[in-house]
Amino acid sequence: MARWRDTGTPAGEAALTSRLDSADVTREPMIAPSLLSADFARLADEVQRVADADWLHFDVMDAHFVPNLTFGLPVMQAVQAVSPVPLDCHLMIENPQRWAPGYAEAGSRNVTVHAEACADPRAVARDLRAAGALAGLALKPGTPLDTYLDVLPEFDTLLVMTVEPGFGGQEFMAEVLPKVRQARKLVDSGHLTLFLEVDGGINADTIAQAAEAGADVFVAGSAVYGADDPGKAIAALRAQAAAMAR
Ligand code: DX5
Ligand code: ZN
Repeated sequence: MARWRDTGTPAGEAALTSRLDSADVTREPMIAPSLLSADFARLADEVQRVADADWLHFDVMDAHFVPNLTFGLPVMQAVQAVSPVPLDCHLMIENPQRWAPGYAEAGSRNVTVHAEACADPRAVARDLRAAGALAGLALKPGTPLDTYLDVLPEFDTLLVMTVEPGFGGQEFMAEVLPKVRQARKLVDSGHLTLFLEVDGGINADTIAQAAEAGADVFVAGSAVYGADDPGKAIAALRAQAAAMAR
């Protein structure tokens, strides 16, 4: 279900195609279940339960950039080895320039770092692309897009947080949607070439608003893993988003 050209490319062989090309983005909504809401004692099984997803969202938290602590590179490598779905690593960590390339080298399709934690976002993006991944930049709810307009041409994904990063199961912040709209205008007018990803509180009640604002990648933790049938939840969310996409 991945929608850009290197679908199926084995880990480590994507270096020549890591840069996102506008022709590769079809605006089909992509659903990225967050493993944060999975049963950590059964990760291999939990990955299989979302085999119909487009990306598997992997939330790395370091107990410094955010108060919570989750998992890091060794667990990512173990998940990557059994996942039928490309990984989308979201690094909520300090000093991402030190750690982010390792996730790209391990085969993550997309690696997103937080703008607030980056001394030199351009350098991180270049390292990620050179290591064969798409490069993502994440903005906390209170971080304006304008500050980062000049570095975004170096990135492939813009992740707009729709909750404060740190925990799953929080309430969606609709007040962040103008930032998604602003980014969508810049993409549609050809000024930027980006996947527009939203993360936090995405569920059956909120995904239509996010899609209407222009998001095309939707992270969903509790809405997918909290469902009796995660596959059905993914399909339902994708259909809701597709109905809103222009
Ligand atoms: C929050 C994480 C999210 C989280 C989303 O800091 O970045 O990816 O897992 O979980 P839900 O969908 O439950 O809000
Ligand atoms: Zn996340």
